[in-house]
Amino acid sequence: MDPAYEQLANRFRRVHKHLRKWAKRTDVSCYRIYEKDIPDQPLIVDWYDGDAVVWAFARTRNDNPEAEQAWLAQVLEAVAAGLDLGPERIHLKRRAPQKDRQSGDGQYERLEQRRAVKAVREQGLLFEVNLSDYLDTGLFLDHRPTRALVREQAAGRDVLNLFAYTGSFTCYARAGDARSTTTVDLSNTYLDWASRNAALNGQQPAPEHRFIKADCLAWLADAATASARYDLIICDPPTFSNSTSMPRPFAVEKDHPWLLSQCHALLRTGGVCYFSTNFRGFEFAADLPAFTIEDLTTRSIPEDFRNKRIHRCWRMVRT
Ligand SMILES: C[S@@+](CC[C@H](N)C(=O)[O-])C[C@H]1O[C@@H](n2cnc3c(N)ncnc32)[C@H](O)[C@@H]1O
Repeated sequence: MDPAYEQLANRFRRVHKHLRKWAKRTDVSCYRIYEKDIPDQPLIVDWYDGDAVVWAFARTRNDNPEAEQAWLAQVLEAVAAGLDLGPERIHLKRRAPQKDRQSGDGQYERLEQRRAVKAVREQGLLFEVNLSDYLDTGLFLDHRPTRALVREQAAGRDVLNLFAYTGSFTCYARAGDARSTTTVDLSNTYLDWASRNAALNGQQPAPEHRFIKADCLAWLADAATASARYDLIICDPPTFSNSTSMPRPFAVEKDHPWLLSQCHALLRTGGVCYFSTNFRGFEFAADLPAFTIEDLTTRSIPEDFRNKRIHRCWRMVRT
């Protein structure tokens, strides 16, 4: 192996060894090993309980397809050596620059049909991940501490999970004895996945635990006039969303005052909204409804993430 890639393999090995002890102690089987630590190696490497998912970003020095292929081959060799994995356990994904998990275009498309699907354990719960067929795996590792917070605070609460994806926050809320959960997402694929996640954790279908396929914005507009109110809302919207089933595109930067005012209307007094975004340049608008806002970001980003700007997260209490 080229010495530069031996060094990369050694880095993977060293970090993995260090995190393994922490992971065992905290009952976490999926964690981030590498995130663009070396500028010339624009990769993310995540460990999923015996498999590695490798996102390779555009690398400026690869100015032709052959150079790109040669680079990827060396990267895969370094991952295999550093993490002691056979090729069938390494899942390579390509990601264009500036596209984070919430930036819209194509991120939720199916990539292939290899069905590298398995259940992984996180803090006492089980989640189905698909390591091969989508750009994302079904479990966003950066919100692990936020999920734990939701579980701690869910007992006896009516919980609303907006933009719910595979329902991991909902599983935590039910594990924390939420009185009811309402899980809303635009996608049937992800709602079915959320139901499977519930089943994996022994959470039986029940009338007080609802899965709703809807555009959250349309649903929120109607919900404000209905009678149901909530104690805890998780609102982790995409940066942009422009599905054909929506009347107009959503952009968190522009639309968050309306989104948060609808959440405010649905919260009981003293109720809490956990609001999060991956949009780097995010600033709250001046015209927010009456919330006491606490920035949780330093606590909500897990210790395996070197990138402390992966998301921002606030605890917003309805006054
Ligand atoms: C970034 S994920 C949210 C992450 C999730 N909160 C979590 O931590 O697992 C984006 C999700 O929002 C959903 N989505 C995007 N636009 C939506 C909309 N207007 N209404 C409902 N769901 C939407 C997508 O289907 C996808 O499941």
